Order: sequence, then C-alpha cells, then structure tokens
Amino acid sequence: MKPFLVTITALVTLAAAGQAATTVSKADYGKMPDGTVVQLYTLKNGPLEARIITFGGILVSMKTPDRKGVAGDIVLGHDSLADYLGDSGTYFGALVGRYANRIGHAAFSLNGVTYKLSKNDGDNTLHGGPTGFARRVWSAKEVPGGVELSYISKDGEEGYPGTLKATATYILTTNSLQIHYTATTDKPTVVNLTNHSYWNLKGSGDILGNQLTIAADRFTPVDSGLIPTGELKSVAGTPFDFRKPTAVGARIDQNDPQLKLGHGYDHNWVLNRSGKGLEMAARVEEPTSGRVLEVYTDQPGVQFYTGNFLNGSVKGKGGQPANLHSGLCLETQHFPDSPNKKSFPTAELKPGEKYETTTEFRFGAK
Ligand code: GLA
Repeated sequence: MKPFLVTITALVTLAAAGQAATTVSKADYGKMPDGTVVQLYTLKNGPLEARIITFGGILVSMKTPDRKGVAGDIVLGHDSLADYLGDSGTYFGALVGRYANRIGHAAFSLNGVTYKLSKNDGDNTLHGGPTGFARRVWSAKEVPGGVELSYISKDGEEGYPGTLKATATYILTTNSLQIHYTATTDKPTVVNLTNHSYWNLKGSGDILGNQLTIAADRFTPVDSGLIPTGELKSVAGTPFDFRKPTAVGARIDQNDPQLKLGHGYDHNWVLNRSGKGLEMAARVEEPTSGRVLEVYTDQPGVQFYTGNFLNGSVKGKGGQPANLHSGLCLETQHFPDSPNKKSFPTAELKPGEKYETTTEFRFGAK
C-alpha cells in the first residue's frame, strides 16, 4: 500500500507545483502625485519572472528564456512610475477597464437609460475613458502563486452606471502567466476587462517577422473611427486570415481597406470557440529567439494590434524610442462597441451576477 500512497501524494504535489514553486515579493516602486505609494510585486518561478505594479496593474516586465535558456524581457514598458504617469496613450502592460476598447459616440443605452461616457478617442471612448482602470492605483494582496489586485469603480465614474468591484489576479506558474478577472455591480452595467501588454518575443526590434496564428474564421471590420460596423466578416482570402502561421508583416502593407483604416492590424477577431472554458486564441513564434507565446482565453474575441500608433515619440525601457511595430498586443475581450451592437455577445453585468474570466499566456521556446 505504501508506494501507492506515496505516488498519490507525489501526484497531488505535482499538480500544485505549478504555482507552489512561485515566490512573491513586494517593494515600493514610486509615489503618485498625491503621495500614494505604488508597489511592485515580483513573481518568480524557475526562469520565469513577472513584475507587476499597483498603478494600472501594469505588467512592467516579463522574463522568459529563449531557446538557449537565456532569460529576456518580452514586454514593452517604461523605466519609472513618472514615465508611466506621463504616457496616457500606449497602455503598455496595463489592466484596462471598465470597458476595454471602444464604445462608439461614447454612449450606450441600458434598460431605456442612455449613459454618456467620457470621450478620449475623437467622438468615442477608448479603454474606459481618460482615467480608466489603467490609470488607477489598485489595492493589492499576495495570494498563492501571485498577486490579487482590486479596484472599486464608483457609480458614474467616467459615465458608467453602478459601483463595480473588480479584481484581477496575476498567477505565475511553471510555464505561464494567468490573469483571472472578476467583477460585481450594484446596478446593471457593462464590463470588459483585459491586459494591454505589448509582446516582443525577440526583446527588441520589430514584430513583423513573428509567425502568428489566430484561431478565428471571422473578424469584425471597422469604420474610420475603428468602431465595428456590426459585420462578422470571413477572413478567407483577406490579410486577416491567420488560421495558419503567417508572418505578421507578410501582408500588413497590402492595399486593403481595413488595413488602411487600422494603419495596420488593429481589429477584433471572432474566436472559433467550441465550449466555455479556456481555448487557444492565438500563438506567436519568434524565429530568432525561438520563443513561443500561446494565448488561452474564455473570451469571445481578441484584439490584435500591431503598435501602429507607436512612432518613436514615446520612450520605452532604457530610454529607447518605442518605434512602429515594436510590439504586438493580443487583448482578449468582448467585441468593441458591444453595448451598442445587440447582435454581439453581451457585455452586460447585472446585480447578483459575477463576471469571471481568465486569460493565460503560456511561454515556451523551440
Ligand atoms: C488598442 C486600440 C488601439 C490603440 C491602443 C492603445 O489596441 O485598439 O487603437 O488605441 O489600444 O494605443
């Protein structure tokens, strides 16, 4: 009997080992203009290291090994809190809410009431408005394997109805970074939370040579304000077909009306889903470093954005200019403008319901 029991124990230990091996440490990162201290949490598991700050819940660095085992930082970001505070346009690494992506004309109606939101993208609202969740200091507590961040968004903040209690928990495992999101509300509202990391698996240069796969037969074409038209368009025969691994830059300059509107890729893909759990949304392979990133989610869409607004004017890490296409984003999400598109999966949250969603970034090298 004994060896059998030992085996069972070993199995249980193995199952928990993914995150049990993760160490979590905390340090001060800087101070907000009002004196609030921003903390930095460092999660380590073997060669993986994730660093997260409480301002915006920003993933400020993510180190993973390349094919030779050499660890490198694979997310864009800044060197200091002052630099993050001074950059309201890139959303480098941030947790985005209350509604990630755009809502057209910065308004929506729910149960016959029209809510007017703060505009910060022409006539539209983007990423929750000018002081969205990406620009708030979140409360933090250590949890097994990671850190749980929480933020209470007041009724009426940026125009959204209902007090929203949101959490985002980063968990580092032996091969992945998971983000678990929850939210509850005291009035009907809309919610769409994501992480806005810019991945550069090589650690520098551009992402045009990355081989990308997106598990989607359709995408949501946009108008000139990058608001979906409502159509779910087949990717077949278009530069939006990433059903087989294809270099990001292979078709980005084609004379395609949607690419022109986005100044590159800045669109939502309709994920091919078969169930409710985590399914692979996208996979990126970087040929020189050998690094591989797989994105798993339970969300209906993913925004693939090729850093088209980066033009070198914002400085990234080490004071280096963040240049065009120096990172790519895979923002798992509800479709943009869902609150105004009854045919899209609903992003509504009612009192008594719980918004719960997970995205997992799995890292490897080959
Ligand atoms: C998202 C949007 C882009 C851009 C970036 C932030 O990805 O879709 O248009 O606003 O955020 O710069």
